[in-house]
Amino acid sequence: MLELRDIHLRWDRRPLLDGVNLRVDAGHTVALLGPSGSGKSTLLKIVAGIETPERGSVWFDGEDITRTPPHRRGFALMFQDFALFPHLDVRDNVAFGLVEQRVPRREARERAQALLTRFGLGAHAQARVWTLSGGEQQRVALARALITQPRALLLDEPFSALDAALREQLRAEFRDRIAEAGMAAILVTHDEAEARAMAQQGWGLHEGKLRSLW
Ligand SMILES: Nc1ncnc2c1ncn2[C@@H]1O[C@H](COP(=O)(O)OP(=O)(O)O)[C@@H](O)[C@H]1O
Ligand SMILES: [Mg+2]
Repeated sequence: MLELRDIHLRWDRRPLLDGVNLRVDAGHTVALLGPSGSGKSTLLKIVAGIETPERGSVWFDGEDITRTPPHRRGFALMFQDFALFPHLDVRDNVAFGLVEQRVPRREARERAQALLTRFGLGAHAQARVWTLSGGEQQRVALARALITQPRALLLDEPFSALDAALREQLRAEFRDRIAEAGMAAILVTHDEAEARAMAQQGWGLHEGKLRSLW
């Protein structure tokens, strides 16, 4: 279980996060909604460990991880402008996280190939990523995020670069794959329909505080 307790952070001397509490159970997706500039990405960065709160703590399964560096948290991130590696083929993009964890390259490639096949991308394994459509690239990015079996998945506006029809199509697909993988997930979006389609719980970030939406 992922938990934020009483998170505070000021920006420009104004409170950006002003006592944020949030709990996300394994297998659940929680959506964070709010206008641009309300602090959604900053909150996600605190969960990831890229930003440190001035006050408050981050917990995972009963352990205080507030000061744990990002790469030791076992979380996967998928940010809106988190591009795939253009110099690697699709399979090596997906295998990347495993190779970083010192899984032998051959085994990493086999596991990447298996996941790509499950995602309907098996035939593209050896293609350059930039030859894929926008939707296919987002699927590759999700496969890359999930392959290391992260304890939590953090999504920041994952579909913002895609057109409306494609966003709608990917919602259900991503929701099912996240449920199947069984980790805690936080989805940041400004699209309420998308949030409702993907998350069991929705929270609005407004003046530094979370309000329950559903
Ligand atoms: N490193 C930083 N830490 C905290 N706040 C920042 C930082 N850089 C910019 N900001 C400001 O914090 C506010 C919230 O930004 P952000 O979290 O990106 O909001 P959102 O994702 O909801 O659009 C913005 O006004 C932004 O200018
Ligand atoms: Mg943002």
